Amino acid sequence: MSDLRSEVGDLLSQATLRYSMVWEDDELLRQGLRIAPTDDVLCICSAGDNVLSLGLAGANTVTAVDMNPAQTALLELKLAAVRTGSYERLVGVLGLADGAPREHYRALRDDLPADAAAFWDEHLDLLEGGVVFAGRLETYILGFARAHLAELWPDDLFDRLVRATTVEAQATLFLGEGLTADFEERFSWYFGREQMAANGRDPAQFRHVQDGDVGGYFLRRFTWAMTHTRLRDNFYVRAFLSGSYGPLESGPAYLRPSNFEALRLAAARVRVVTGQMEQVLSQYGPFDKGAFSDMFEYMSPELAADVLAGLAAAFRPGGRLAWWCLLVPRPVKGALTPLDGLADSLWEGDRSWFYRSFHLGEVSG
Ligand SMILES: C[S@@+](CC[C@H](N)C(=O)[O-])C[C@H]1O[C@@H](n2cnc3c(N)ncnc32)[C@H](O)[C@@H]1O
Repeated sequence: MSDLRSEVGDLLSQATLRYSMVWEDDELLRQGLRIAPTDDVLCICSAGDNVLSLGLAGANTVTAVDMNPAQTALLELKLAAVRTGSYERLVGVLGLADGAPREHYRALRDDLPADAAAFWDEHLDLLEGGVVFAGRLETYILGFARAHLAELWPDDLFDRLVRATTVEAQATLFLGEGLTADFEERFSWYFGREQMAANGRDPAQFRHVQDGDVGGYFLRRFTWAMTHTRLRDNFYVRAFLSGSYGPLESGPAYLRPSNFEALRLAAARVRVVTGQMEQVLSQYGPFDKGAFSDMFEYMSPELAADVLAGLAAAFRPGGRLAWWCLLVPRPVKGALTPLDGLADSLWEGDRSWFYRSFHLGEVSG
């Protein structure tokens, strides 16, 4: 199978924490993949949030793969906190509670695999500052709220938006007071291709992007999210606008206090692999369900088709694969039957709003 090294493999294999949370709506995965208790699931690791969510959905096993060792170290940290401690340890080490993350880290360090412990020993600064929002992308995203929103919005607008009980009331507030000409101009500039490539993502991650007006596209999608999803049900937008999840019971599945006991059981069924998906795949599997983030975004159409065929071959008949496309279209092809009706209707409620499409493909029986 083709080697991604010619694409962004070298770049993404560097141990820099690029993503400290997952900005991909786990509800789309849960509803699209319909996890059964016998399912063996393969999932891009990223920050691990959706790996844990699919475990909580009841999968038999979840294999998490990422070529960036910083990403797998983050999931290992979360797993060790769950294995060795309480809910307080989990939120404590992630910087989501009062107290020193470093103390929590000390208490769980010996339970980490050597590579992950070595990574965190060298990056205690990331833990100190609250690792959940310390990724390169999160630092950039939250920079908008910190440096710009305070100037653009009245102090209490975010709170009033969160308190809105209906999406109509929230939309009226946003369109009336939030979406000013200054906001539009600053948002499109900040989330435009040039600024994002320099600070949030990387120029190589835009290699196959053809849409010239990236900032305008993100502004349209953000406006959609603010007028079609309620902030009180949407932690992705709450985090985007405030650098906080707000009440954790309505945050990511793995952080909900009511899920913690189930999380302990799910954590024991997670396997973490550092490596390039298409290279490590043959050592594991077969699988029933797969979640691939937007990994095809960084590949040429030919390479994406080649990699997809290789992935499909590692799945049992009837297996389902899911992925997003952010800016680059990479639809279902080849060995998979598209489930476009279901995927499109799920995308219409996508709380993580960035993505231009969501895809589901089924492996023929
Ligand atoms: C695909 S990225 C997407 C993040 C975000 N949606 C974006 O586009 O900026 C999520 C994770 O996938 C990992 N990744 C991407 N391609 C991969 C591959 N071929 N094999 C293993 N991990 C991969 C990255 O290292 C990263 O941690």
